[in-house]
Amino acid sequence: MLTRLIYHSENHLGSTGGKMIAGLNAIMDAANRNNQRDGITGALLFDTLWFIQILEGEREAISATLRRIMADERHDAVTMMDARPIEARQFGNWWMGLAMLRGDSEALFARHGLGPRLDPRQMSAEQTLALAVDLASGNLNRRIDDAA
Ligand SMILES: Cc1cc2nc3c(=O)[nH]c(=O)nc-3n(C[C@H](O)[C@H](O)[C@H](O)COP(=O)(O)O)c2cc1C
Repeated sequence: MLTRLIYHSENHLGSTGGKMIAGLNAIMDAANRNNQRDGITGALLFDTLWFIQILEGEREAISATLRRIMADERHDAVTMMDARPIEARQFGNWWMGLAMLRGDSEALFARHGLGPRLDPRQMSAEQTLALAVDLASGNLNRRIDDAA
């Protein structure tokens, strides 16, 4: 059964510098490699404090991936926001697409009824999905090198 999962977690990579970028790229490289193998698609939203991730795929594949993600020390406080069966994927072009949310995202957040600072604890699953779909219609990236 095709399933969609949304969670948020606290970033432990730091918020600036080469270590953060290298850490994020290592996550994205593993995610793209494994998700292609496992038929998982989705989006990862990142800012200085938070990760928000949406995963789409067959339920067994999502469960196995989530077990690895929950054990990962590059973040903690993994908090489920939504899990449900879906009819169709919304991130079918991305094994995992990255959106960096830094500084200049206020207008985007306002379009989704959100305040100037990203705080997933204050966001509904619907708002989160709509924000990610909005980002995916423009500028997701496979890793930070591709961004800029
Ligand atoms: C915020 C975050 C998101 C991640 N997303 C994925 C993902 O979508 N798919 C995946 O396989 N691993 C993801 N990972 C990495 C896993 O925790 C784990 O390190 C990886 O799956 C191990 O893969 P490997 O055995 O091929 O090295 C993520 C890690 C973090 C911290």
